[in-house]
Amino acid sequence: MKHYTSIHDIDNMDSWITEAKALKANPLKDIELGKNKTLGLLFFNSSLRTRLSTQKAALNLGMNPIVMNVSGDAWGIEFGDGTRMDGNTAEHIKEAAAVVSQYCDIIAVRAFPTLNDKEKDESEQVLKSFVKFASVPIVNMESATGHPLQGFTDALTISEHADKAKPKVVLSWAPHTKALPHAVGNSFVQAMQKMDVELVIANPEGYDLNPEITKDTPVYHNQEDAFKDADFVYTKNWSSYDDYGKILSTDSDWMITKEKLGHAKFMHCLPVRRNVVVEDAVLDSKSSLVIEQANNRTYAAQLVLKKILKDL
Ligand code: CP
Repeated sequence: MKHYTSIHDIDNMDSWITEAKALKANPLKDIELGKNKTLGLLFFNSSLRTRLSTQKAALNLGMNPIVMNVSGDAWGIEFGDGTRMDGNTAEHIKEAAAVVSQYCDIIAVRAFPTLNDKEKDESEQVLKSFVKFASVPIVNMESATGHPLQGFTDALTISEHADKAKPKVVLSWAPHTKALPHAVGNSFVQAMQKMDVELVIANPEGYDLNPEITKDTPVYHNQEDAFKDADFVYTKNWSSYDDYGKILSTDSDWMITKEKLGHAKFMHCLPVRRNVVVEDAVLDSKSSLVIEQANNRTYAAQLVLKKILKDL
């Protein structure tokens, strides 16, 4: 595999899940594969899980991870083509990506959307510029429109905890105080579309995700109807896609409660705001898989890095 930028880079979800489970059972079995190879992790935005689990994955493969907070610590990077750089940006992505490629065998990038310029966000300017101007493989650690390391993690976690052949999985919007990206929801939908599950989405009117991603996945605007007979409830807030980046509702009726969850397992990518998105009683119960999801981030990243290392 050359790059991992989207869930579409997973050629066979079932075999990827099988391979990730094998890595989880024996995390150090490929410790020689990444010897003398360097992973560069570039963060334009904050992170806890992605930052630590991707480094841990690299270490499990014998790689040397090096990390940089680009926003704040590096020179301001210019992404525009032909720009006269007399403003705040000090170096162009053409040089920056080529330079980082001198130090790293794989580069992983996190760059969130603006949430005010839909066209710019959908162009994935930062991620695609690294793919274009770096000379080494690129891994997406959450971009404007996707979080494929999280999406694959969630597929792995559902596979481990499903107790029937075709579980019902609900992706439910929940309220939040800030406008959040669509990336996690998008990649979760794309991952579930590659699995044998019954996927439905629940969100208030005005919050439908990009129909080019949801395709024919049923969308309910009534949470109670969507949750009927659910085996997994995956919860995430996102801002409006149609009224791009706006908060149209903070309706606390959409918060996940133990009563609504019933017998379903609860999932969330974290970080999560307690008693805004989901009540304590859910997170503190055995129904919650959130810590297991966070654990699986390591093995999802490890499989991605392993596949890239094998093709270097
Ligand atoms: N789920 C996730 O990507 O967590 P971080 O933002 O902390 O990396």
